[in-house]
Amino acid sequence: MLLLLAFIAPVVVNAEPASQIAWTPDVLNRVKNGNLNKGKELAESCKSCHGAEGQGMKEETRDDETLPAIPALAGQVANYTYKQLRDYFNGSRSHDSMTGIAKGLTEQDAADLAVWFSSLPPQENKSSSQNLDRAEKMVEQGDGKRTLPPCFVCHGGKGQGEKMDIPMLAGQQSDYFARTLEAYKNGQRHNDIYSRMRLIAQQLSDEEIKELAQYYQQFGVVE
Ligand code: HEC
Ligand code: HEC
Repeated sequence: MLLLLAFIAPVVVNAEPASQIAWTPDVLNRVKNGNLNKGKELAESCKSCHGAEGQGMKEETRDDETLPAIPALAGQVANYTYKQLRDYFNGSRSHDSMTGIAKGLTEQDAADLAVWFSSLPPQENKSSSQNLDRAEKMVEQGDGKRTLPPCFVCHGGKGQGEKMDIPMLAGQQSDYFARTLEAYKNGQRHNDIYSRMRLIAQQLSDEEIKELAQYYQQFGVVE
């Protein structure tokens, strides 16, 4: 019976893959050999939203209209940026502005941009005098009662991200951070391979998500 289940299971879970990206040597080399100068040129068109230094933007209210926060890209792990651009291109991740922008970029453009943004220094972004002990505990120890691994095992001890595709979180715009975790939680964002982030976000309360966003934002520069 168990043996039978083992054969059936793969068929049952054979839904649409979370992402079309597979980290083959070809793809890894394309990103690794991305052209910095070409990336810099292409990045001119990103500045109006992602900021002159790739620092992103805080949520802002202008004339009754709330403009949502925009993520920082400076210092981000290049493979991660590349994957997100290709995920928007392929429809694995979607967003009103980013889908159209990514559709206008080739694989090579995405690699060049990813290398350029990873070369920029991450922003120092200290704020918040809030008590963040609970967030710190989650980052360092996780929660064994729920099946929550500590964030640091994947995102690094300083929130700096890791190979192959795990993003830097340090200094990320807190409103964007919270919004994207909520999107994993409700399934609106589903481009994480093996559901790694959805399984975690589903177990976090909205309050915990806000605190984790503050915690990582004030982590500041990573060397
Ligand atoms: C009109 C404003 C706008 C422009 C122009 C723009 N972006 Fe974005 N970008 C956004 C917003 C808003 C998000 C967050 C989208 C979401 O929540 O999925 C985003 C998200 C991203 C992400 C995902 C970041 C993450 O941490 O997951 C990447 C990568 C990205 N943009 C790259 C670029 C690049 C490269 C360019 C220029 C070629 C560019 N963007 C131009 C608004 C913009
Ligand atoms: C098992 C490894 C793993 C653990 C543990 C983990 N993450 Fe992640 N996280 C990832 C991966 C992989 C991605 C990128 C997924 C994708 O491609 O969309 C990610 C993405 C994210 C993002 C989106 C970043 C962006 O720029 O859009 C946030 C925010 C995040 N994680 C927060 C957390 C927090 C907070 C914790 C701890 C409660 C945590 N993660 C624990 C693997 C992990």
